[in-house]
Amino acid sequence: MKTLIERATELQQEIVEIRRKLHRDPELSFKEYRTTDFIKQTLSRLGIEIVDWGGETGVVGLLKGVTPGPVVALRADIDGLPVQEENDCVYRSQNPGIMHACGHDVHTACLLGAAILLAERRDSLAGTVKFVFQPAEEINAGAKFMLEKGVLENPKVSVIFGLHNSPNISSGQVFLKSGGLMAAVDTTFLTVKGVGGHGGIPHLTCDPITAVAAIIQGLQTIVSRQVNPLEPAVISFGTIHGGHANNVIPEKVELTGTVRTFNPDLQIQMPGKMRAVIDCIAAAMKTEAEFVYRKDLPSVFNPPELAEWCRVPLEKVFGPKGLVSTAPSMGGEDFACFQEKVPGVFLFLGVGNAGRGIINQWHNPHFDADEDCLRYGAAALAQLAFDYLEQH
Ligand code: NI
Repeated sequence: MKTLIERATELQQEIVEIRRKLHRDPELSFKEYRTTDFIKQTLSRLGIEIVDWGGETGVVGLLKGVTPGPVVALRADIDGLPVQEENDCVYRSQNPGIMHACGHDVHTACLLGAAILLAERRDSLAGTVKFVFQPAEEINAGAKFMLEKGVLENPKVSVIFGLHNSPNISSGQVFLKSGGLMAAVDTTFLTVKGVGGHGGIPHLTCDPITAVAAIIQGLQTIVSRQVNPLEPAVISFGTIHGGHANNVIPEKVELTGTVRTFNPDLQIQMPGKMRAVIDCIAAAMKTEAEFVYRKDLPSVFNPPELAEWCRVPLEKVFGPKGLVSTAPSMGGEDFACFQEKVPGVFLFLGVGNAGRGIINQWHNPHFDADEDCLRYGAAALAQLAFDYLEQH
């Protein structure tokens, strides 16, 4: 019998066509209607049962083997981004202002490829594979929504695997990491209120702009002075709004930002550390601060024992030299929400090709993937599921 990577290589052109179809027609989070229809059609053609899981977009498919056993979930995200594609290629996005700029078309194509591979081996599957095509990853909402709807129940999932493309390693390579792979993501909302007035007469105002300037500087010292230098942490502000005229001190300034951490204890401590700095500086400047800290996502954390187990199946697909190292990412991924509920491992699949100029980062209007990665991604997901069922 052929190995899964040998069979995936034979199917490569078919998986490329799937990817291109998805890439041409990207859809935004929770609006992935045509994508959902296409996935359902493809799974139905393979004889995979479509589960009515309770969402309008996104698909759950079940492939039951002939012998009973555990349930392995394989997850791909399916949504695009509000980015205008600037690549000039035959599979360029046909939807103005929308692009698969994070490569979720690649993930979806890899998972459909894995579905083809596993459906062909249904007779030797010792358990069930649950295919989870998740909507709305880009807005950190899809995984939570699917979990609320009970996606890991009925049948109960034992373990979950997923991958994200990485342009930082080459096609044919994979990054398997034990522990933290992607950062926890939190969102901050800060309003600083003062007393407005004449820009030339500041002593009769309470200036929120000067207060905010000091607060931003003060908050950066949390990372540099209060966090262990060996622990990754980022505090960034992405919006700041206040004032309408050059010579008028406004009543308030509003900011929104993002906080990234890996260590769960540090994530818990961050709101308190930030609030202390904000409240003290705001008070010293005769202003008042309203601070809201929203925890959005835990970090993507691969449990060491399960990550170690993945090594052998992945070596079957990528060869021993295919398992390489790259940096973890301060980006977030809502795959982490599944990992909070069941053991799960997330991988970085190499899609870069420096020789062909495929080096652009996620969310860039020139982002692309070396399509040679597709057979590897499909075979990797299929191999993890197949081997897990065989050995458990
Ligand atoms: Ni992504």
